[in-house]
Amino acid sequence: MQLGSGRAPGKIILFGEHAVVYGRPALAAPVTQVAAEAVVEQGPRGAGLTVWAEDLGQQVAVRDAAADDPLAAVVRLTLAHLGLAEPDWRVTVRSTIPIASGMGSGAAVSAAIVRALADAANTQYPIPNLPLSPGAVSALVYEVEKLHHGAPSGVDNTVIAYEQPVYFVRGQPPQPFTIGRPFTLAIADSGIASPTRITVEDVRQAWEREPAHFDALFDQIADVVEAARDAIAVGEPDALGPLMDENHALLREMGVSCPELDALAAAARAAGALGAKLSGGGRGGNLIALVAPETMDWVVMALRKAGALHVIVTQVGA
Ligand code: PMV
Repeated sequence: MQLGSGRAPGKIILFGEHAVVYGRPALAAPVTQVAAEAVVEQGPRGAGLTVWAEDLGQQVAVRDAAADDPLAAVVRLTLAHLGLAEPDWRVTVRSTIPIASGMGSGAAVSAAIVRALADAANTQYPIPNLPLSPGAVSALVYEVEKLHHGAPSGVDNTVIAYEQPVYFVRGQPPQPFTIGRPFTLAIADSGIASPTRITVEDVRQAWEREPAHFDALFDQIADVVEAARDAIAVGEPDALGPLMDENHALLREMGVSCPELDALAAAARAAGALGAKLSGGGRGGNLIALVAPETMDWVVMALRKAGALHVIVTQVGA
């Protein structure tokens, strides 16, 4: 019997990755074409709580799992937050979000589990403050993200938990931003798995070696983010193209692009995209391209030809 369920979308960072770790703003948006879903069912008596992650082929018994196991950690943190002792539940998680490609698959799996556990608790026990607020989901997922990433800025868990485009500054409540006119992006997966923890660490070392240079790059990225926010608000998304190119060039200068991402960006632009940039940690993962509807087929084809493993088309603000 199903006791509860939860869902969370994927995400992309539109502008501002890496600089956001250093207090500059970023813009991020949910990608609802892909999602993680968790379902809670009654398990055998005395078995405790187990998580079955179908896509990862992973089964985790929470009572036996290591402290840093992310699936067990999200369950432990959520049960503690709800004030529940470990129930005999079986949680099944499925996700259509590409893994390790900067679409927030880990954060979305965590958020879906948090919501499913809260939903099940709500039907089984008298617990106040349910359903959980987006802020509460975000805070729980952030604790788990720290296990993956060390010191994440918090942008991933925020956009996934709030399920709306956000203007994000580390340590501040997220601000939804106005979208004057929806725009369409192609999201191309380079197929290169690149742990965010490593690029974030490399940027840190580079910043420590050349603080003035890197602070100037972060400031330039902050200017791009503010200009992008204004262009989106007034409904002039075409103005985002050059801003994406500029953000990509700045990320390249920071050393977080790679030849494959640069090739995808060039292919997208040559096929008619209005602009393109890497999205997320870089050196792999995703490239995003701003595309007008009439050139979308060409751009998607060009991205595939240039090596994209798959391409997702999404509308921001629709
Ligand atoms: O690789 P992703 O999509 O999880 O994005 C990481 C974004 C960074 O700014 C590089 C790191 C962070 O913690 O914000």
